[in-house]
Amino acid sequence: MIKIAPSLLSADFSSLSDEVINITAAGADILHLDVMDGMFVPNITFGAPVIKAIRRHSGITFDVHLMIEKPIRYIENFIDSGADIITVHAEADDEKNIRRALEMIKEGGAMASVAIKPGTDAQAAEKYLDIVDMVLVMTVEPGFGGQSLIRSALEKATLIKKIIKSGCRSDILIEADGGIKASNAADVAACGVDILVAGSAVFGADDYKTAIDEIRRNAVSALK
Ligand code: DX5
Ligand code: ZN
Repeated sequence: MIKIAPSLLSADFSSLSDEVINITAAGADILHLDVMDGMFVPNITFGAPVIKAIRRHSGITFDVHLMIEKPIRYIENFIDSGADIITVHAEADDEKNIRRALEMIKEGGAMASVAIKPGTDAQAAEKYLDIVDMVLVMTVEPGFGGQSLIRSALEKATLIKKIIKSGCRSDILIEADGGIKASNAADVAACGVDILVAGSAVFGADDYKTAIDEIRRNAVSALK
């Protein structure tokens, strides 16, 4: 079943607890949390203490997207913050350390995920398919909300889904992140994406529930 994951990046940071409560009530399946360090991406957002503080306001699945250099340094902190899914970028360290970071996520009891940027080949994620529970395909350059979806990046989702289906871990999920809105949700879902992240399209809308419902409806229509 297709899941919709609003990204807190486009929420009102001065009222985070209300935003978490409201987005949960609006029917979001998952809350996507973008952690940026100003090094891996040219922007800084929030870290584990903020996630831990908002954790008590909702039981919704917390999907933590780490856009940080050498994420292995902080896995324990994010496990401790209450993350249910933790994503590390394949580009953020060497293969040995990324693999170890993914192992640490699993040892901590969370789902492990690897992300690739729009310019990174599918093979960079493929080498971790023996360990991950999810692959995050970036459909914009990471760093900022409100950008336009890069179609060529989305096409990689189709390829990765095919590879997953032909392997022994066909349960691995695909998440697409960046530039997703109601008008392109069907195209995203048609690529085999299981989780659609939407930041500005949901938190920028007047009514969160209407925005989520429309994205979901369009995404589901692609599978009929
Ligand atoms: C970008 C983030 C995305 C972002 C998506 O680096 O990873 O999760 O919040 O925002 P929209 O949906 O506005 O492109
Ligand atoms: Zn993200």
